[in-house]
Amino acid sequence: MGSDGSATSDVNTKAVARTPLHPGATLGVLGGGQLGRMFAHAATQMGYRVVVLDPAESGPAAEVASEHLCYGYDDAEGLKRLASMCDAVTTEFENVPADSLRFLQQHVPVSPTPEAVEIAQNRIREKTFFVNNQLPTNHFERIVDIADIENAWASMSGKAVIKTTQLGYDGKGQRVCSSADEARQAFESFGNVECVLEDFVAFDLEVSVVLARDSNGTVQTFPVVENSHQNGILDTCVVPARVSDVVSGKALAIACELATALDYVGVLAIEMFVAGDNILLNEIAPRPHNSGHYTLDATSYSQFDQQVLTLCGLPAATVELYQPAVMLNILGDLLLKESFDWSSIDSSQCHLHMYGKAEARVGRKMGHINFVGEDVDQLLEGVATLQMT
Ligand SMILES: Nc1ncnc2c1ncn2[C@@H]1O[C@H](COP(=O)(O)OP(=O)(O)O)[C@@H](O)[C@H]1O
Ligand SMILES: [Mg+2]
Repeated sequence: MGSDGSATSDVNTKAVARTPLHPGATLGVLGGGQLGRMFAHAATQMGYRVVVLDPAESGPAAEVASEHLCYGYDDAEGLKRLASMCDAVTTEFENVPADSLRFLQQHVPVSPTPEAVEIAQNRIREKTFFVNNQLPTNHFERIVDIADIENAWASMSGKAVIKTTQLGYDGKGQRVCSSADEARQAFESFGNVECVLEDFVAFDLEVSVVLARDSNGTVQTFPVVENSHQNGILDTCVVPARVSDVVSGKALAIACELATALDYVGVLAIEMFVAGDNILLNEIAPRPHNSGHYTLDATSYSQFDQQVLTLCGLPAATVELYQPAVMLNILGDLLLKESFDWSSIDSSQCHLHMYGKAEARVGRKMGHINFVGEDVDQLLEGVATLQMT
């Protein structure tokens, strides 16, 4: 492992090496949000053309891509056009139908695979995958019917979280419960859709590992990131995470094992809870992740560079953390404050990234700021000052 906590692992070479795609090739991306935008920035910088497929008429990625196909993710004509225009396709949106990826895969290389995306977009499949691969996670039960809650509750330890199995994000579609009754109420309020009931984890902190695994099976991890949430939405990240070497070593090892067990190709993010020296897997995202945005300014290669490299069948790059970093998400909440003033962001002291979204809304991710420097406390002061405006 590097002194900054990044690591290279070559534990498995099951992945199939591919003929590399070089600059001039065209890369497709499903999804048109900020992750697609930053992918497009990285890809175009390296000389690739980018085609975005996104049902919205305009958006963060469409604005910077070479071309935008405005179709639904399951629209046969849109997918055919994408396949005919591109040399490889990736996704920035984890809820893209796996069958759309399967269709595209018949024509062009697709990474991540439909199988990996299918696991990541369903909390039951995801947690079952962890258990089947002897990877640590908190106790959970599947809830299909409201009557399932009674027995499931009996196996919990007094406090639990009920989450919809699919389509939850930024803390939406989940509730902390202290009784079976509360869980039943939540289940009904979610519309009686399939849920997972899982033990509440009294964690010390939350961390994530973002990694890239290439088509040769080599894994390159970014350093462990420490994540703080506000109202279920990621607020700040501190890198490297302020954890012991034991915890950071465990987090990286679990992440590599997981990526290899999935035979993953592409960029994968893994969210974990840390309690003492123990780590429990929370969830995974089959794409670059908000907690990896600091890599745009603080590491030798960004998570989006890695997405381009792995999609193109090229080796994932070795990662070096140049300096510690703190990332602050800019939500619509900040921009909507009457007291907010752009001049309170001193761009000579930090790196500002905005996603070009026209309308600021509460809870909407509008951009982020990376503070980079040797002294994390000083970086956190910069964040606190901005949050007080
Ligand atoms: N079992 C749990 N115990 C304690 N906190 C939890 C648990 N599950 C989720 N949380 C909190 O809620 C946040 C969002 O949950 P998560 O499962 O990551 O869903 P998503 O990010 O898709 O909304 C987590 O980052 C964590 O802060
Ligand atoms: Mg999460």
